[in-house]
Amino acid sequence: MSFKEKVIYQIYPKSFLDTNQDGVGDLPGIKQKMPYLKQLGVDMVWLSPIYSSPQKDNGYDVADYTAINPTFGTMEDFDNLMAAANEQGIEIMLDMVFNHVSTEYEWFQKALAGEKKYQDYFILRDEPTDWVSKFGGNAWAPFGETGRYYLHLFDKTQADLNWRNPEVREELFKVLRFWMAKGVKGFRFDVINLIGKDEVLKDCAENDGKPAYTDRPITHEFLQMMNQATFGQDTEMITVGEMSFTTVKECILYTKPDREELNMTFNFHHLKVDYKDGKKWTQMPFDFAKLKELFHTWGTQMSEESGWNALFWNNHDQPRALNRFIDVDNYRVAGAKMLASAIHLSRGTPYIYMGEEIGMLDPDYDSMEQYVDVESLNAYQELLDAGKTEKAAFEIVKAKSRDNSRTPMQWDNERYSGFSQVAPWLTIGRSAAEINVAKELQEGSIFKYYQQLIKLRKQYPVISDGSYEAFLPEHPQIYGYVRRLAEHSLLVINNFFAEETTIELPEEFLAGDVLIGNYAVENITREFTLKPYQTMAIYY
Ligand code: GLC
Ligand code: CA
Repeated sequence: MSFKEKVIYQIYPKSFLDTNQDGVGDLPGIKQKMPYLKQLGVDMVWLSPIYSSPQKDNGYDVADYTAINPTFGTMEDFDNLMAAANEQGIEIMLDMVFNHVSTEYEWFQKALAGEKKYQDYFILRDEPTDWVSKFGGNAWAPFGETGRYYLHLFDKTQADLNWRNPEVREELFKVLRFWMAKGVKGFRFDVINLIGKDEVLKDCAENDGKPAYTDRPITHEFLQMMNQATFGQDTEMITVGEMSFTTVKECILYTKPDREELNMTFNFHHLKVDYKDGKKWTQMPFDFAKLKELFHTWGTQMSEESGWNALFWNNHDQPRALNRFIDVDNYRVAGAKMLASAIHLSRGTPYIYMGEEIGMLDPDYDSMEQYVDVESLNAYQELLDAGKTEKAAFEIVKAKSRDNSRTPMQWDNERYSGFSQVAPWLTIGRSAAEINVAKELQEGSIFKYYQQLIKLRKQYPVISDGSYEAFLPEHPQIYGYVRRLAEHSLLVINNFFAEETTIELPEEFLAGDVLIGNYAVENITREFTLKPYQTMAIYY
């Protein structure tokens, strides 16, 4: 089966299931839930980082790429998890954080101790540039007592690696081979479009310096080298690159098969349509016209030029899409299905983030004390420094924090939602008694809807392989598209609002069949009225 027919499920290991009652999720917990994932029908499970790490950025600060973080378990637990997954026909994708390492990594420690070999593993300069860290503040920090500075595009404990050094590349390729030898079948590459730094780094006042270090041409060369040296030899491997602040043009280059870089890319433009003036730490209702334009541009251009998108609404860095795009007080269930259809029937490989399949919501915390994410804490401080009141700053953090999606999985309505028997590392969401797996499997319909979407992708080549074109691109409420493959077509219509709207269906679909939808449809008529958040796919 090609990556076009597969659906990938993301797990944030800290928050999935705690089996040794220390309040933190672990590998045996993930293993235990493999039958659940099998029931859902996903093909591959992507694990956010499970490696040795001081956890300053929840594992995205890796201290050893080939050691398991003891909080999550042992290498034996990992092997057991792999075996249990494979037994269910599920493959494992690991998260490779190759732009930077934790400053606790042996390489950085040796560099600090003066070893020249390791100093060349990092980006050290006498004169720092004016770049701003993505987690706030200066992107450069003093390199010990040397008078030099090291680059950290993220937290100051995450030092950027020098990919221009062939020894660094070889170290990283070795890491990939290590995990491939264990049977890992997929890699998700963290902020991989930042790895290629120019030889001469330049100041850049625009956008905190991003244009100076993002999507640099040499990045493509590095990806080709990595492909050739590792996963490119194995046609079953699936690779996805997380692309920060990128363009469709670049993503076509990253994913066009004949360039031999990656299978697909994540981009985040569609999750910035509720950023005021492009700034994350603000609040604004989402801009539907912009969302649609982005989906259509990416959908059409990737389709025309043989690129491939990773499709997603949620991940461990985003507040829950339900809270952002849907009136959840009145339409949580219909809205969850509409959002799911909008991407699962589109052109690309869909990703489900844990809890999405039961319609989980943001936790609705009531105090700053409940947040732990470094980015959120920094942002709160910056908002106060900029003159916001505590209440106003809190409201923004509450809407935007990455912790929104990192709360423990809601398995049942027990005290700690079946995640653990002790207080978890991050407070459980307020809705856990109402929204949980046990209840959803008994009487819910969102999980079933996801099951159906996953099956359809495997049954209908027009879903996995069809082209993409926009439908009613100017409509103020509808996001729609048509997929085509040989003699078959699929029309997908999504009402993104709580108000009804009447549209005209194209002639060619009047004799079609409804493949899936969130309301019962009696008749496909030329004049068709869509209910609040209605989604419907017509196959002809
Ligand atoms: C990516 C990860 C995020 C992490 C950052 C730095 O954006 O998804 O969680 O903080 O990279 O590694
Ligand atoms: Ca545990």
